[in-house]
Amino acid sequence: MAKQFKPETLCVQAGWTPKKGEPRVLPIYQSTTFKYDTSEQMARLFDLEDSGYFYTRLQNPTNDAVAAKIAALEGGVAAMLTSSGQAANFYAIFNICQAGDHFVCSSTIYGGTFNLFGVTMKKLGVDVTFVNPDAPEEEISAAFRPNTKALFGETISNPTLEVLDIEKFARIAHKHGVPLIVDNTFPTPINCRPFEWGADIVVHSTTKYMDGHATSVGGAIVDSGNFDWDAHADKFPGLCTPDESYHGLTYTKAFGKLAYITKATAQLMRDLGSIQSPQNAFLLNLGLETLHLRMPQHCGNAQKVAEYLSKNDKVAWVNYCGLPDNKYYELAQKYMPGGSCGVISFGLKGGREVSIKFMDSLKLAAIVTHVADARTCVLHPASHTHRQLSDEQLLEAGIRPDLIRFSVGIENADDIIADIEQALNA
Ligand SMILES: Cc1ncc(COP(=O)(O)O)c(C=O)c1O
Repeated sequence: MAKQFKPETLCVQAGWTPKKGEPRVLPIYQSTTFKYDTSEQMARLFDLEDSGYFYTRLQNPTNDAVAAKIAALEGGVAAMLTSSGQAANFYAIFNICQAGDHFVCSSTIYGGTFNLFGVTMKKLGVDVTFVNPDAPEEEISAAFRPNTKALFGETISNPTLEVLDIEKFARIAHKHGVPLIVDNTFPTPINCRPFEWGADIVVHSTTKYMDGHATSVGGAIVDSGNFDWDAHADKFPGLCTPDESYHGLTYTKAFGKLAYITKATAQLMRDLGSIQSPQNAFLLNLGLETLHLRMPQHCGNAQKVAEYLSKNDKVAWVNYCGLPDNKYYELAQKYMPGGSCGVISFGLKGGREVSIKFMDSLKLAAIVTHVADARTCVLHPASHTHRQLSDEQLLEAGIRPDLIRFSVGIENADDIIADIEQALNA
């Protein structure tokens, strides 16, 4: 289906293709387990000699249908759903990095990911070096070591809204024989498909636009199937040498282009178990069915709100890559010509206290931790999502103390602007 159809059709139809007499709508396989006729049939599944379902911690038909839809939308060969975006990012790195390994990461990423990589993964012995994504190639290259196993960045960073130069990052990663992993949560594959620009693995917090209705926390990892693990076998023993927990099976030999996702499923999900519930996958699928309709509305509304804010004299600064004077306008036009995302950031004259007063005066836009919801919502990262970061770390991550993150929903743009106006006047 992936090659035949355009994204709009994939959003609605990919993943679940019912056969005669089967439900038209993707069913929720609310079953932990699956039945077999002989002990031998089940044993072959445990040895990865046959494909089939046996236990939902590893695979579930509802989840697999939704994963297949996301893989089709991104143009990848396979995907795996996880219980959250955090789990997706953890698995994406841990699938190829073990204690003693290192990876390089853009410093402008979501605060939760920054913490996961910079603190928690370090405790597991996986080291990270954060780099300024706008630095010249040689400077980013200098962060690589012999034990570096991946390069990581966000297409549009949350909440600083910097646009990643994906081709530059892919060049650097491939020069060092490692894959580029891109968190494509904010643009979604409707606005950007990182594989087309050289990324190897894509991750998502499906909690955001993909679900779109703020009902279900979830994540996804998508593999392009393009990275040649065997060409760098010394770096990736987990994929290119026998796995003792599967009787000496070697993932690249047994599964070819599906090696990375199969290992993530058969080994990491088996052992760590952060599976997405089939109920959540069902809700995610409903969200995906309208993703192609919602994204243009988010982007169109955000453009109008950004233009309004940039003309208002109470506003100190506006950051939205759809504004022609934005630092990332050219990159956004290159990678996301049809629109970027619905998230804007700005600061008010008078600084932090005025920004907080403004947020408290909003009536339509709600103060929530969430972002990328159908409903307009707002957050002050320095007081909320990033409060664990010191001022120094905040600035390192490009977050000003007065930064308001404004996630423009799919309501009428005039109503959103009227709400902002009354709050500015309050
Ligand atoms: C870009 C990005 N990646 C990952 C995450 C983590 O996702 P989740 O909240 O689903 O665990 C977030 C959450 O805001 C995010 O914005």
